Amino acid sequence: MRVVDLDRDMSDVIPTSMSRDSEYLFERMTLETIDAALPGPGQRILDVASGVGQDTIAMAMRGANAMGAEPSQRMIGMARMFAEDKKIEMPSWVQCWSDHLPFATGSFDASICKGAMDHFDRPELAIAEMARVTAIDGRVVLAIANFESLSCRVGRALDDFRRDVLGIPVIRDRRGYDAPSDHFTRYEVNLIREQAGRHLIIDEFRGVSVGWGMPGWAGFLQKLPQGLALRCVQAFDALARFAPVLADVIVVVGRPRRSVNTSA
Ligand SMILES: C[S@@+](CC[C@H](N)C(=O)[O-])C[C@H]1O[C@@H](n2cnc3c(N)ncnc32)[C@H](O)[C@@H]1O
Repeated sequence: MRVVDLDRDMSDVIPTSMSRDSEYLFERMTLETIDAALPGPGQRILDVASGVGQDTIAMAMRGANAMGAEPSQRMIGMARMFAEDKKIEMPSWVQCWSDHLPFATGSFDASICKGAMDHFDRPELAIAEMARVTAIDGRVVLAIANFESLSCRVGRALDDFRRDVLGIPVIRDRRGYDAPSDHFTRYEVNLIREQAGRHLIIDEFRGVSVGWGMPGWAGFLQKLPQGLALRCVQAFDALARFAPVLADVIVVVGRPRRSVNTSA
């Protein structure tokens, strides 16, 4: 039996109000993922685990022939609704699991999967499937949360210090460096390199943002004038680009690893 909640509607993951660092991170990771797929007129792009379809729609708005693949009928319904009022050719939506994509080998110029791999019960099979359905010279883009980011390391070190040195018990419900209960995998650079590397020739690791979830960071940014807060998150973002291992989100960009003879 698959333990996946198909009735989710994202209300638990889309916060009603966002801190400045969250806003910056979500916008940057989305742009980095979409840009890496090079959506444009005539490009066939698959958005795996497309959720409510905002990225599929964004790629269609850039002229791509975008398709969302998503197991939840409810999410697909919401995606259709969101796409309706846009003046674009409606993306297509297919209800399916990421580890069994119902497309022929090499059907797409690019495939993306953003913020979803840690929800999959068989994530490596999903990467293999994305590599299969993407053209041999195409792009596979995976965006994952990094649970060994600088923020996670600092958060854990502070908790260890409080508990082990000061003797103060950690009282928070869920620590930022722990994977949430609906995640199957706790990703960090080495794990995604290992899994993705078996199916992709990895061209790039792009780091996005540093500091998200660091104790006190969101509150500190909130107190700054808006322009200065933006410069702070941008400076930390530059650090993420330089050292993806410390980044809050890692975007992996690669090409299918398979022989030309098996490519469509
Ligand atoms: C956090 S949402 C991310 C959605 C979207 N990519 C985004 O960036 O907003 C995770 C998505 O993964 C989907 N999902 C969970 N398990 C899956 C699986 N095995 N195959 C495909 N999708 C799955 C869920 O239905 C949900 O839409």
